[in-house]
Amino acid sequence: MAIRTIITEPNKLLRQISKPVNGVGKEEQKLMDDMLETMYDANGIGLAAIQVGILKRLIVIDISKGEEKKNPIFLINPSIVHQSKKTSVYEEGCLSLPGQFAEIERPAECTLKYVDLNGKQKELKAEGLLATCIQHEMDHLEGILFIDYLSKLKRSMIIKKLSKLKSSPAKL
Ligand code: NI
Repeated sequence: MAIRTIITEPNKLLRQISKPVNGVGKEEQKLMDDMLETMYDANGIGLAAIQVGILKRLIVIDISKGEEKKNPIFLINPSIVHQSKKTSVYEEGCLSLPGQFAEIERPAECTLKYVDLNGKQKELKAEGLLATCIQHEMDHLEGILFIDYLSKLKRSMIIKKLSKLKSSPAKL
């Protein structure tokens, strides 16, 4: 396993649409292992392949906390088959938007189909934080970031802040 570099906003790559994966082989498994290690290293609960610069419809998620047993979920070519009308609000962050957080409203429950790490078709019904996390990560596959749900003003303020951060000299 290896830790990969996480791409941060502003970066045009984050706005690309990821491509479906044809079959699950060693390459996909290695990439998802790297993604999981990268996500744990950054203290994240979800990561899409595009965030490490790879335009594939792959997602890793683990919402287990601190001392709890790790519980990684690997989603390949996920698609949502149902979303509840009921919504919930969570404060979201994103490894591609370091230091930025906002309350985002999304469907409270979702059901999805996906292929697992062994190439098997699966279905998953999610609620609570997991449902929010899945929908946030699936947005990445469409080139959507959580800041897109904010007002134009708030969004441009965040992007400005992140641009400044990028152009300031590295503190070593
Ligand atoms: Ni994100």
